Amino acid sequence: MATSKFTFFIILLLGLTEKSSTASRINSRKSCNFPAVYNFGDSNSDTGAISAAIGEVPPPNGVAFFGRSAGRHSDGRLIIDLITENLTLPYLTPYLDSVGANYRHGANFATGGSCIRPTVACFSQFHIGTQVSQFIHFKTRTLSLYNQTNGKTPFCKGVLARPKDFSKALYTFDIGQNDLAIGFQNMTEEQLKATIPAIIESFTTAIKLLFKEGARFFSIHNTGPTGCLPYLLKSFPATPRDQYGCLKPLNNVAIEFNKQLKQKISELNKELPYSLLTYVDVYSAKSHLITKAKNLG
Ligand SMILES: *[C@@H]1O[C@H](CO)[C@@H](O)[C@H](O)[C@H]1NC(C)=O
Ligand SMILES: *[C@@H]1O[C@H](CO)[C@@H](O)[C@H](O)[C@H]1NC(C)=O
Ligand SMILES: *[C@@H]1O[C@H](CO)[C@@H](O)[C@H](O)[C@H]1NC(C)=O
Repeated sequence: MATSKFTFFIILLLGLTEKSSTASRINSRKSCNFPAVYNFGDSNSDTGAISAAIGEVPPPNGVAFFGRSAGRHSDGRLIIDLITENLTLPYLTPYLDSVGANYRHGANFATGGSCIRPTVACFSQFHIGTQVSQFIHFKTRTLSLYNQTNGKTPFCKGVLARPKDFSKALYTFDIGQNDLAIGFQNMTEEQLKATIPAIIESFTTAIKLLFKEGARFFSIHNTGPTGCLPYLLKSFPATPRDQYGCLKPLNNVAIEFNKQLKQKISELNKELPYSLLTYVDVYSAKSHLITKAKNLG
């Protein structure tokens, strides 16, 4: 986790050098001084949506760090928790949470099992298009509640996002893993690779919609070594492994997905004015943890 956090900032810096005009604008505002975070994704960054929508993620998840089941498919904190900690912001409330929610510093639309594409076969219905629709509803409702009272009610002051923060917020993404994992169930490596451009296209549509809504700072995690996920190792006992015991064809697909994602992000950086999109290499960070697991304890 420490490595991922470190990588996040290193790559944020690399991203900044690519677009120096925006970079100087950010630097002049003190780097990373984001008032809010809006997150989109799957279980890698779900802080309680599945628990709210379908039913509690059961213990032992959450026990070691939170002392109770905390909506995460993880015993400890997720990368998104460490990012918000580092930005000195509270942990993100899931958009679907109706009790004790606080959206002053952002909201989390990530839902476990989600895909980029609205595939029927996906584990979850909350694909990225739905998550963006939820964000638009969230923003519209927030603006209209502010409008009715000039933001003067205790409710607006306490738990509602501030309208002016939407364009200053950091928009984070970690999604794509399930598109690849589900496709792998009935496709060869080559067939699955052929679907990548359409997946990237759906992702691009989501980014452009958010840009249209005023989002300007995007931090996009690539996909991890999907072929190392234990549940997939169990499902595909006969698939060729690499030297670390991971599914080689599926990791090849993840690498190809990341290559096309990186290329698309670089195009979007040229295309979308007054914005900054940062590609975050989570694959390398997770790969490092998996391949050096013994040395790292
Ligand atoms: C955030 O991360 C950076 C880079 O690792 C570190 O220098 C800084 O102290 C961290 N800030 C907080 C509040 O954790
Ligand atoms: C807020 O109120 C202003 C002035 O009455 C109006 O022009 C604007 O469309 C309203 N915005 C929203 C989101 O309701
Ligand atoms: C795999 O299954 C999906 C439905 O879940 C279907 O749309 C797709 O065509 C199938 N692909 C192949 C290569 O059989």
